[in-house]
Amino acid sequence: MKLYLRLLRYIKPYISRLMLAIICITAAAAANLYVPWIIRDVIDKVLAAKDMAMLNTIAMGIIVVFLFRGMFFYGQTYLMAFVGQRVIIDIREAVYRQLQRLSLAYFDKRKTGTIMSYVTNDVAALQHALIDSAIEMVTEGMILVGSIGAMFVIHWKLTLLTFITLPLVAQAINVFGKRLRSVSHIVQERTADITSVLQETISAVRVIKSFVREDYEIARFNRENMSNFKAQMKNAQLMATLTPVIEFLAAIGVTAIIWYGGREVISGNLTSGSLIAFLIYAVNISNPMKRLSRVYGNIQRALAAAQRVFDVMDLEPDVKEIAGARDLPPVKGDVEFDQVYFEYKPNELALAGVSLQARSGQMIAVVGPSGAGKTTIANLIPRFYDVKSGIIKIDGIDVSTVTLNSLREQIGIVPQETMLFNGTVYDNILYGRLTATEQEIIAAAQASNAHEFISQMPQGYDTPIGERGATLSGGQRQRIAIARAILKDPRILILDEATSALDPESEKLVQEALDKLMVGRTSFVIAHRLSTVQRADVILVMEKGKIVERGTHDELLALGGLYHKLYKVQFRQQKGNLVNAK
Ligand SMILES: Nc1ncnc2c1ncn2[C@@H]1O[C@H](COP(=O)(O)OP(=O)(O)OP(=O)(O)O)[C@@H](O)[C@H]1O
Ligand SMILES: [Mg+2]
Repeated sequence: MKLYLRLLRYIKPYISRLMLAIICITAAAAANLYVPWIIRDVIDKVLAAKDMAMLNTIAMGIIVVFLFRGMFFYGQTYLMAFVGQRVIIDIREAVYRQLQRLSLAYFDKRKTGTIMSYVTNDVAALQHALIDSAIEMVTEGMILVGSIGAMFVIHWKLTLLTFITLPLVAQAINVFGKRLRSVSHIVQERTADITSVLQETISAVRVIKSFVREDYEIARFNRENMSNFKAQMKNAQLMATLTPVIEFLAAIGVTAIIWYGGREVISGNLTSGSLIAFLIYAVNISNPMKRLSRVYGNIQRALAAAQRVFDVMDLEPDVKEIAGARDLPPVKGDVEFDQVYFEYKPNELALAGVSLQARSGQMIAVVGPSGAGKTTIANLIPRFYDVKSGIIKIDGIDVSTVTLNSLREQIGIVPQETMLFNGTVYDNILYGRLTATEQEIIAAAQASNAHEFISQMPQGYDTPIGERGATLSGGQRQRIAIARAILKDPRILILDEATSALDPESEKLVQEALDKLMVGRTSFVIAHRLSTVQRADVILVMEKGKIVERGTHDELLALGGLYHKLYKVQFRQQKGNLVNAK
């Protein structure tokens, strides 16, 4: 019931069209109901009395009735489709808007395919319910009520007899309906499982091929496919049982009418035209009942879908703005962590008491073994996640007190995994600042050392990039991502392994570009290769969520701790590489 009310709220803006549609539906249904009445007159008044003039009038009447019925049918179908589709578009937009509003933690916890199916499958299921089922329900409902009314007028005792079977049908619908609801829920879930396997394997196609796991993936897909089949068959089986059961019960009713009604005609209490009309009405009601039972299934399915869609809409983002959050004013770029604790999952600290201070314009390097928490530090500055305890301040202002947009607009990030969008090279750089001019785009590409390779491509800046940037090399992708961040011109810059996919030659070039870029900005440079961070003002050495050493390159070497160890290992590797190269 609550769900219905909520759906109604989406229908409200289109209420006038809906009203018009209902008028059309009523008129079309009335035309339908009139037909048996005409037939009664044909039998009783025309055929019995052999009245030629009456026959002509009735024939004309039938044509006119069907003409109007056609017009109203057009109106009903067009208007209902309009209202239904508008509502669907509105709901789809609302879900998408909500997905954009949710925090990263939401996406961490769910499969991409599952989230996608909310916007595609579930919204489509709603569409069926709103357009097809709603029309059917209203039309059939009217025919049902009208037919029953006409039957009472013709012969009330006969009508009552007919309706002895009705409660039986209603009970059957009820029992099956409950089962259908749970089965259709399972069907939806199985379909979402397939989507998510598909989504995952298509995006990981390189990994699959490199490990020669095609057969493994096919087997996995088949398992999901098979369980989808089983769920679908359960659903089909229920549907297949429901229809004949209801039809059989209806047939019993029809037989009873013919038997009792025939006796009434024989004994002169009923005209034969009336009995025929009565039978047509009675058959007429079996149709709506059959359809309504199907509509019932559709609506159950749609309600399950609506429930999932609304559940998504009701979620609150994990990262929220406080009431009365104000905009972060343009910052100088001082960043401070004060005893920051953080966990992605309960009781698994990813940061355990991190304190750091970055002065405006400084370069802060963050190094340490994989999983130490380097990216986590980068995630917390723009508040992709909220700290468990402790405070992060920019220019002395607690980031949890300012609006998210004003905060994130002043931070540029080149993430560890470069993500480019389907579109041209130009569009992908423009993403950094939508108002940028062509000159600014080219300047950004030059600064990131990407201009040269872009110009060499046949279509230059208009070269389309495949999905996830698949048509470019890793290093090229990174340089475009750097250009995108440069274009944003942020005061705080975060480079998470921004040069990791580059060869030593282009690394040097990008490094020069970054050096220029970092002047006057506070920059956090996360790197595995220690050669990139030697000039940093402060190097933070992380291990297991803690900063274990801090200082300049020389200080840390002199300390002889973890940094010294990491450095020695890499230095030896580099020397080894040089020897091998010779
Ligand atoms: N989205 C996430 N959900 C749950 N746990 C996470 C998530 N991201 C990271 N972690 C965990 O948090 C810890 C720190 O991860 P983080 O990504 O900060 O490491 P890192 O130092 O950047 O490593 P790398 O050098 O491999 O990039 C790891 O134990 C990791 O498993
Ligand atoms: Mg990382």
